[in-house]
Order: sequence, then C-alpha cells, then structure tokens
Amino acid sequence: MLSKFEVEQCSLSKLREFHERVLSFSDRFVKIHCKHYVSESITSRVVLGLFLSFFLAMACTYIFVFPRYQPAVRTYRVHQSGDLVPKCNVFYGNWIPDESYPLYNASQCPFAERGFDCVANGRRDRGYQKWRWKPKNCEIPRFNVHEILGKLRGKRIAFVGDSLSRTQWESLICILMQGVQDKRRDVYEINGNKITKRIRFLGVWFSSYNLRIDYYRSVFLVQPGSAPRHAPKRVKSTIRLDKMDDMSKEWIDSDFLIFNSGHWWTPTKLFDMGCYFQTGRSLKLGMGITTAFRTALKTWATWVETSVNRNRTRVFFRTFESSHWIGRNRNSCKVTRLPWLKTKGKDRSRISDTIIDVVKKMRAPVTVLHVTPMGAFRSDAHVGTWSDNKSIADCSHWCLPGVPDTWNEILLSMMLSKDGME
Ligand SMILES: *[C@@H]1O[C@H](CO)[C@@H](O)[C@H](O)[C@H]1NC(C)=O
Ligand SMILES: *[C@@H]1O[C@H](CO)[C@@H](O)[C@H](O)[C@H]1NC(C)=O
Ligand SMILES: *[C@@H]1O[C@H](CO)[C@@H](O)[C@H](O)[C@H]1NC(C)=O
Repeated sequence: MLSKFEVEQCSLSKLREFHERVLSFSDRFVKIHCKHYVSESITSRVVLGLFLSFFLAMACTYIFVFPRYQPAVRTYRVHQSGDLVPKCNVFYGNWIPDESYPLYNASQCPFAERGFDCVANGRRDRGYQKWRWKPKNCEIPRFNVHEILGKLRGKRIAFVGDSLSRTQWESLICILMQGVQDKRRDVYEINGNKITKRIRFLGVWFSSYNLRIDYYRSVFLVQPGSAPRHAPKRVKSTIRLDKMDDMSKEWIDSDFLIFNSGHWWTPTKLFDMGCYFQTGRSLKLGMGITTAFRTALKTWATWVETSVNRNRTRVFFRTFESSHWIGRNRNSCKVTRLPWLKTKGKDRSRISDTIIDVVKKMRAPVTVLHVTPMGAFRSDAHVGTWSDNKSIADCSHWCLPGVPDTWNEILLSMMLSKDGME
C-alpha cells in the first residue's frame, strides 16, 4: 500500500509538472522531463491507479456534497530545495556538445569584464563554449529572455561574495541584455562605475523593466577588522567570525540573494597576509580554516534566520566553484581543449560539504546551488592565460560565455519556479 506521503509526492510532482508546463518559457525550448513516479513497477502503478480512482471518486462525492470544497492539493508548497523531486537533481549529470551555445557574445556585452573574455584575449579554440549541462534525469529548461525579463520586472537580485559571484553577476546581465533593444540606454551601472577587481559594489539597472542586479564584494561574508591592541606582531588584520559583514544592510532588501564564499579561505590569502580569526574580543590564533569557515557560515545562517524577510527574499548559496590547479603546490594551470571525462575527485570539496551541512541545519529555507560537481569536469573552461594579465595563468576563474552561464540557467529556472514568484 502506498503511504500517504508517497501519494502526496505523486500529486505534488504532477502539480509541479503542470505548473512547469504553464511556466515553460517557450516552444523552442525543452521542458523538464523528470520521472515522477514513485515506482516504475506495474504493481505499484495498478495500486496507484486504484488508489487514485478511489480518491477521485471520493473527491467527486465530496465536491458534490460540499460544492465549495477546495482540493487540498492546491495548498501544498513544494519544499524550496526541491527535495520532493528526488529523481531530478539538476546538479548531477554530464556535459554534452551543443551547437546552440554560447548564449551571448562577450565582446558585445559591456558587463563581461575584459579579463574573462577569453576570445578577445586571444583564445582561438571555441569548443569550450559549446557544451550544455545535462542533468541525469531531466533537462534544464531553456528560456525565452523576454518572458524572463517580464517575470523579473520590479525585482532586485543581489550577488554577494568573491570574484566568482562577480562572474555570475556579469553572466546574468549579459544573458538578460539579449532581450533588451537599446542596450546602451536601457542598461547601465547606477553610479557609472567600471568593473574592477576590488570594487565593493556594482549595481546594474535594467530601466525599462525596473529590474536591478547588484554585486557586493564580501569575500568572507563576515566582517573584516583591524588587529586588536596588544596582538602579536604577525597579526595585521582579523576576520570577525561572529559578525556579519556590515555591508549586509545594503544588500538585505532584495528579492533574491545569491551568496558564495570559499576561494579566500586559504592559508595564502589569510595567514600569509597576517590575517587571523577573531570571535568577540579574542583572537583565535590556533583556529583552523575549516573550523573558521563553519563558524562564519553559522553567523551567516543566523543572520538569514533573524534578519532576512522570508516573505520577500529568496536565498541561494552557491557551493565551491571547482578550480583546476595542478602540481605539488597547486600553482600550475593548464587549460585543456576538452572537458575532463572524469571529475578526478574535484566533484567533492570540503568547502561545499560545510555549506551543505550548515544549510541543512537551518530553519529558514535556503537553496544550495551545488555547482561543484558540474565544474569539476570543466578543465577546459578556465581563463588560463587568456586573461587581462598573460603573465599569470588562472585556473580558478571561468571564461565568459561559459560555465557561469549554466549556473544562471539553473538559477533562473529556480527563481521562476512556483516558489520563486508570487
Ligand atoms: C562577437 O562580437 C565581435 C564584436 O562585435 C565580433 O567581431 C565577433 O565576430 C563576434 N563573434 C561571434 C562568434 O559572433
Ligand atoms: C510574513 O507573512 C506572514 C503571513 O502573511 C505574516 O504573518 C508575517 O508577519 C510576515 N512577516 C514579515 C517579516 O513581514
Ligand atoms: C601581471 O602580473 C604580474 C605578477 O603579479 C605583475 O608583476 C604585472 O605588473 C601584471 N601586469 C599587468 C599588465 O597587470
């Protein structure tokens, strides 16, 4: 016999499917084809059929007797992390060649920074732009950019984190600008600022859609500070693990918040620079980076639970964006022509594990964008020496167009799903 939960799950999936059809962005594009049935076996289908007929009969009787009855199923909300669609985890799958990519030309997008425009910086092979992420049991919906812009009208989206957040911000703007006629007049940075590596805030305004897409640089998410008095000489600055970044009050008032952090939690970017951890007034000189990262994430989680308006704001956290450094000191970078066929262990990351674990324990709903496994294959997609400085190879950042566009295709499908919009 099917449990109540399983039946609910079925109806829910059906409802979702229906909803996705209604929402499906355009005829040209593929719809989600998750396999929804709890079990494929004939027996369970028969049982399910019988059960559903019985349920239907009961429901009809009920509606006949109480005509104003509203089917309970309408009130269900799909859990925001998509937990109830277990067979369609969009973050596990493969890259397959697809000539319809890339989604835009970086040289024609003023918000793709020069350092990520690999073609403009001399990269000659283009194959790396022509891969589509194919989740194991479903498709990421391709979208019609005009419809998306319409649905995002009046919204504010903020990306918060390190330069990988900036890349995703740039990618989303370039994707959405494809739907804007008068690009120069309609889409602009609100302070007229240019993109630089250290800039702390960039806000792009799509004026005809009253849509804002912001980027805040906050590489640790918690508050950096100066060394306390009487601290040992080697301490030049600290990271206040128990205090959310002061800038959070500027980004909190958004409809969508997309966070990341990870690439700066390394000894070279911390201890070698004289930066140590602090909680309250005490220095934590012996604290390891993993513990510190978890502590900072818990501070972030508490901030989400106590400060973010759940009625308005939907929160995402992107996991570690795989890098492809090699060699003993992980200081060598060789961009390949094709993606790796195997992930070679890069589909796991301690940073990602910590993020997933902290989010799992939260009371507030947060969607994890688990991009680690998909990035793990893409040894071909990094900036390498086709950046704004040819003398240093880069196996952390990605070329645009490229992998961050896929993060955005997934993000958009989640943002526009039932729970994303009223
Ligand atoms: C991209 O845009 C640049 C500048 O307009 C142009 O020279 C180039 O041919 C375009 N590339 C493609 C693949 O269309
Ligand atoms: C969110 O909405 C619920 C129900 O409409 C309401 O009770 C609650 O006060 C709202 N919370 C905030 C922070 O606006
Ligand atoms: C490139 O990086 C090297 C090493 O950090 C630096 O010395 C050089 O000035 C940089 N060049 C440019 C053009 O930024």
